[in-house]
Amino acid sequence: MAWFGAGGPGGASGNWKESANGYDWRYPELYVDIAHICERGKFDFMMFADGLAMPRGYQGTWDHYAREGSWVPMHDPVPIMGALSYATRNIGIVGTLSTTFYPPFSLARVLATLDHLSRGRIGWNVVTSMAKLAAQNYGYDDLPAHDDRYAIADEYMEVVHALWSSWESDALLMDRTTGVFADPRKIHSVDFEGKYFRSAGPLTVPASPQGHPVIVQAGASPRGQRFAAQHAELSIAGGSPETMKAYSEKLRTELSNAGRDPYSIKILMATNPLIGETDRIAQERAEALDSYATVEMGLATMSEYLGIDMSQWDIDQVVPADLEVQGYQSKLDGYKASGQTLGEIALREAKHDAFPVRGTPEHVADILQETAEAADIDGYYLRPGLQSVSRLVEFVDKVVPVLQTRGAVRTEYTGSTLRAHLTEF
Ligand SMILES: Cc1cc2nc3c(=O)[nH]c(=O)nc-3n(C[C@H](O)[C@H](O)[C@H](O)COP(=O)(O)O)c2cc1C
Repeated sequence: MAWFGAGGPGGASGNWKESANGYDWRYPELYVDIAHICERGKFDFMMFADGLAMPRGYQGTWDHYAREGSWVPMHDPVPIMGALSYATRNIGIVGTLSTTFYPPFSLARVLATLDHLSRGRIGWNVVTSMAKLAAQNYGYDDLPAHDDRYAIADEYMEVVHALWSSWESDALLMDRTTGVFADPRKIHSVDFEGKYFRSAGPLTVPASPQGHPVIVQAGASPRGQRFAAQHAELSIAGGSPETMKAYSEKLRTELSNAGRDPYSIKILMATNPLIGETDRIAQERAEALDSYATVEMGLATMSEYLGIDMSQWDIDQVVPADLEVQGYQSKLDGYKASGQTLGEIALREAKHDAFPVRGTPEHVADILQETAEAADIDGYYLRPGLQSVSRLVEFVDKVVPVLQTRGAVRTEYTGSTLRAHLTEF
């Protein structure tokens, strides 16, 4: 089990309009309290999204996004990861950092530092970014094309792994009797010279508790899945149980093609469970929440994903079969395959596109277990939004105990690192 969100109020659904339970997204107490609730539920990790530009995809301005608190504002995930490293003891902490914009040396250094600070609980959600505006914030005219971004990221992974290995795990001695702090023979230069990157190394941070952060990946296009099969330990995806089944089948095939055990990646699926004393009450609560979502919000979100202004499109039409994008290709493929009109897709996106599970705690637990088995996935990440602390508490206090009784989730942490949590089941 995991929690996925961002250091900001928005996301796609506009549910910041819900009561904030007295919290303010700008300050650390909210993140720390959410982490403690997740730890109480023995979750594997929390993961923070990131975006590197004020969105402007819809109508060419940030007006909609600012007014709705949608996609922005968003804190940089790295300082939040530092705060959580200190404030928690067990839960894994995953941050999103972009291979297109973070210099490899800086990324290797900051994540190694965080892995030390957290005593081995850091993960890295590897993204290549999808917004041209992000490129312009970093001084480029445009992003490299979709598949090129992954080719560059392949080489990026080589550099950062070389840097993370530049200190052998026993190089750090801190031995007062011999007076030797670190063994210089166990620290190696990297001298990486690739097509896109060069780095001399070594890193200035010793080998971290996990050696390197857990590699997380969310690309779902064929090229993205190939990248995940090459590099990732954990894959996160969203969609219906049917699309998740197809997703896990494809990813496990890619893993075999890459010479890896098809079950050596854990696959987690998005869900937004809502519980009630009866199924009907849960359904009514869901409808009240869904009423925040509008077609316009969804169109604005789609504009960001695809890099196309959707404001002028006819919402009663389906996505044209010949439409191509350089942004989020797997989203576009999903839209086409759904056969839904743009308006229907937009409403779904505005509600976060997470598998909606509603019912009593037992019923929710049944659905989660049955779906995990049917879709051949390993678990779920919840994306309730920062506002919904009380819904997270309900899940942890009412659904997790049912799953624990059935042996589907842990009752205590047995390992101390994120990698140990993920490989326990
Ligand atoms: C659960 C989930 C979380 C994601 N988080 C981010 C994020 O924080 N920042 C980002 O730039 N992309 C994020 N993405 C997008 C993917 O990393 C990737 O860019 C996208 O799937 C496009 O790649 P594809 O065309 O290979 O699917 C996320 C995707 C999913 C499914």
